[in-house]
Amino acid sequence: MEKGVTLPQDCRDFVNSLKMRSKYALFLAFVVVVFVFIEKENKIISRVSDRLKQIPQPVTDANSTDPGLLLADNASLLSLSELDSAFSELRSRLHNLSVQLGVEPAVGEARGRKEEVAAEPSQPALAGHQRRHVLLMATTRTGSSFVGEFFNQQGNIFYLFEPLWHIERTVSFDAGGGGANAAGSALVYRDVLKQLFLCDLYVLEPFISPQPEDHLTPVLFRRGSSRSLCEEPVCTPFVKKVFEKYHCKSRRCGPLNVTLAAEACRRKDHMALKAVRIRQLEFLQPLAEDPRLDLRVIQLVRDPRAVLASRMVAFAGKYESWKKWLSDDDGRDRLREEEVQRLRGNCESIRLSAELGLRQPAWLRGRYMLVRYEDVARRPLQKAREMYRFAGIPLTQQVEDWIQKNTQAARDGSGIYSTQKNSSEQFEKWRFSMPFKLAQVVQTACGATMRLFGYKLARDAASLTNRSVSLLEERGTFWVT
Ligand SMILES: *[C@@H]1O[C@H](CO)[C@@H](O)[C@H](O)[C@H]1NC(C)=O
Ligand SMILES: *[C@@H]1O[C@H](CO)[C@@H](O)[C@H](O)[C@H]1NC(C)=O
Ligand SMILES: *[C@@H]1O[C@H](CO)[C@@H](O)[C@H](O)[C@H]1NC(C)=O
Ligand SMILES: *[C@@H]1O[C@H](CO)[C@@H](O)[C@H](O)[C@H]1NC(C)=O
Ligand SMILES: *[C@@H]1O[C@H](CO)[C@@H](O)[C@H](O)[C@H]1NC(C)=O
Ligand SMILES: *[C@@H]1O[C@H](CO)[C@@H](O)[C@H](O)[C@H]1NC(C)=O
Repeated sequence: MEKGVTLPQDCRDFVNSLKMRSKYALFLAFVVVVFVFIEKENKIISRVSDRLKQIPQPVTDANSTDPGLLLADNASLLSLSELDSAFSELRSRLHNLSVQLGVEPAVGEARGRKEEVAAEPSQPALAGHQRRHVLLMATTRTGSSFVGEFFNQQGNIFYLFEPLWHIERTVSFDAGGGGANAAGSALVYRDVLKQLFLCDLYVLEPFISPQPEDHLTPVLFRRGSSRSLCEEPVCTPFVKKVFEKYHCKSRRCGPLNVTLAAEACRRKDHMALKAVRIRQLEFLQPLAEDPRLDLRVIQLVRDPRAVLASRMVAFAGKYESWKKWLSDDDGRDRLREEEVQRLRGNCESIRLSAELGLRQPAWLRGRYMLVRYEDVARRPLQKAREMYRFAGIPLTQQVEDWIQKNTQAARDGSGIYSTQKNSSEQFEKWRFSMPFKLAQVVQTACGATMRLFGYKLARDAASLTNRSVSLLEERGTFWVT
């Protein structure tokens, strides 16, 4: 064990030899096998729960790229819990199989062992009050970087910015299609999330490319967005010649020592994490039920019209066909149906998660809060206080100062990922640059979602750009559950 501080040697061997892509493709092949098995043995598909029947057809369209559900051959839906138990069994089988074949243990096994290692030191570091784990659950372009700063800025919180980015980059479910991809990766995200909350940051290592050596990496995604990773003692003296892709902003540090980061995580009173890759709240039930975590989920939503407008700028390459359609004046060019389906699927998964959260099932009671970006933008301090109260973490002056400074900044200097803007001025800027026909597409595809969150439909182009027409229903503390 000259290298590994906490990783068992066989686990390291496994990790080093692992070809993640083929591994997960194998996983998925087994998922399919298991489902065929379950279908035959238990006739589970015929017991599709009422809950899932509510899911509108577009989400379950086989061509849709992001449903959070698995589609069976007969277009019946398997509930997530069934999928989940199938996944556990799959792990066990895969492990048995790999033992038979004489190869290394499966990912689940390696994790399980690391969990034991991580569990002990992750006991609450503080005596007086309870350690809290906050998940900021959002989608891209909803202001989650900005809201994440509310937690990043507080000194006693260990904050991670999009750690699941590494998983998305590495894990690819090639076998099967559509829904199976989303469901499979969601389970991996969830397991990784849990380990991260327990300060087992080593769980990320197999997903980081190039893989860390001696738990040292210069390429942790957006390291600079986590204060905790850029302050003493995690910030080790800068070493020349090592290129840091995501370096610390305020100072130069050596490559990230994952062990030091994990230690810092355990030393801090609380943990917060921002993720735009968790699509279904339902998947998080095992985390919400884990007494070690005392989880708090804050779901951040934003007007889907604004989100689309923002995405078309930030991810321009992905929206070429939208732009082509927009610039076509004679109306002959039609928007591809799959683009609309994807938009609708995104909105629906956000709505389904929010509806589940607001319904407050027993496992989620007191653990879910819905926040609209528009409310944060207009009343940042008030919303920050509400979020901290919900999380059960006292808000410090440090955060209040940061909010004051960063919500009343001058207009310029607002880069793509910038959080420094005059937020009450920014939040409905999209209205004045968005073509009405684009707004209309969103309103049609996302109507139910917009109604739930209180985003009013614009009747015509004039009301879209008329400042005295409000497109936002006031919603009070109704949102805090
Ligand atoms: C789904 O894809 C199939 C084959 O690519 C195509 O025939 C069908 O029209 C598509 N359906 C929708 C709703 O896009
Ligand atoms: C699915 O479809 C196949 C063939 O059409 C049929 O034999 C099977 O019983 C169906 N399964 C369910 C659960 O409906
Ligand atoms: C895997 O092997 C163990 C012990 O040999 C056994 O108890 C378990 O049922 C097996 N799992 C599966 C899914 O076959
Ligand atoms: C990383 O930090 C740990 C804990 O302080 C230390 O033992 C280890 O030597 C460091 N690793 C490297 C490569 O410096
Ligand atoms: C920010 O925008 C609001 C609304 O337009 C305006 O009242 C306020 O003066 C602006 N603040 C600064 C510092 O520019
Ligand atoms: C904007 O809306 C207000 C309130 O509905 C209306 O009185 C006003 O005429 C509208 N302005 C324009 C330029 O359409």
